[in-house]
Amino acid sequence: MEQKISFEDFVFIRDYIHKISGIYLDYEKEYLIRQRIEPILKDVKVNSFAEFSNIIKDGRSMRFKESIISAITTNETSFFRDDHPFKTFYKYIIPKLIDKIRRNKENKAKAPTKIRIWSAACSTGQEAYSISMLIDEYLYNNGIFNITKNDFYILATDIDNPVLKTAMSGCYDKMAISRGISDDRLKKYFVGSENKWEIKNELKEMVDFQKCSLHEGISNARFGGTFDVILARNVLIYFDTKTKDEILSRIHQLMLEDSFLILGATENLYGLSNKFESVTFENSLLFKKKEISYKPVIKKF
Ligand SMILES: C[S@@+](CC[C@H](N)C(=O)[O-])C[C@H]1O[C@@H](n2cnc3c(N)ncnc32)[C@H](O)[C@@H]1O
Repeated sequence: MEQKISFEDFVFIRDYIHKISGIYLDYEKEYLIRQRIEPILKDVKVNSFAEFSNIIKDGRSMRFKESIISAITTNETSFFRDDHPFKTFYKYIIPKLIDKIRRNKENKAKAPTKIRIWSAACSTGQEAYSISMLIDEYLYNNGIFNITKNDFYILATDIDNPVLKTAMSGCYDKMAISRGISDDRLKKYFVGSENKWEIKNELKEMVDFQKCSLHEGISNARFGGTFDVILARNVLIYFDTKTKDEILSRIHQLMLEDSFLILGATENLYGLSNKFESVTFENSLLFKKKEISYKPVIKKF
């Protein structure tokens, strides 16, 4: 039977979820807490939401933390989701990245650096693997042999352990494959048959999956450098304005001057950070760091 949840307990549990995940649920999403958290309470033999609130109040919630995060996150994703950002990546961004690698390689005074791409909130990995396929295809289609997949580093992170496990395994069922993978790409980039397909090692090796909570753990030091491209698609929608702003500020610090931020197809930054400016490539809206001009402060005496 579905458990009732008092308003007081709802607020308490909502604030706990916000603290551990950054995800903010208003009262309209009360049903989500009931539907997704109740099975966990049953599993661990906690009889009511009131009892669960008390466990949180007493600081005994650590054992639930990961399962609550897993239950409350929405992991919807697919290969080449929404298509046009990936077309833009192939047509406009990869050529710029290739130029940059060439310039880097020509500059003998500097040790060559890899192009760094970050799929923040990667879920089960399809976004990162789609990017790796496009890089491989671009190099092959353009007969580029002096630049290789090794010139690229793709970091892919998420807060949710089970989705990261799938992402790292690179294994997908028929349904996941049917959402975005053409027959040609299936033959070229996967091994397997029927209902179990695994990404080939050559693509797996391009992606470094790590656990990371966007609302707390992102910094230059944490990731060992800044990025040329950051994909933060379909994740900011789950956060409140303050959390979104804080995350965007940190993303801004992690972007190189000439880098791109890619959000979800229906997302934009209206009413949020003013540190970015939009750039349109055909159907895609991307974001760059705004050039900040520092005006001298003139003091009047
Ligand atoms: C809807 S999926 C988007 C996946 C992919 N970016 C796409 O657009 O297809 C949102 C992902 O954000 C992750 N997520 C939610 N809150 C997060 C947080 N605070 N830090 C990192 N990842 C988070 C979820 O676990 C989930 O896998």
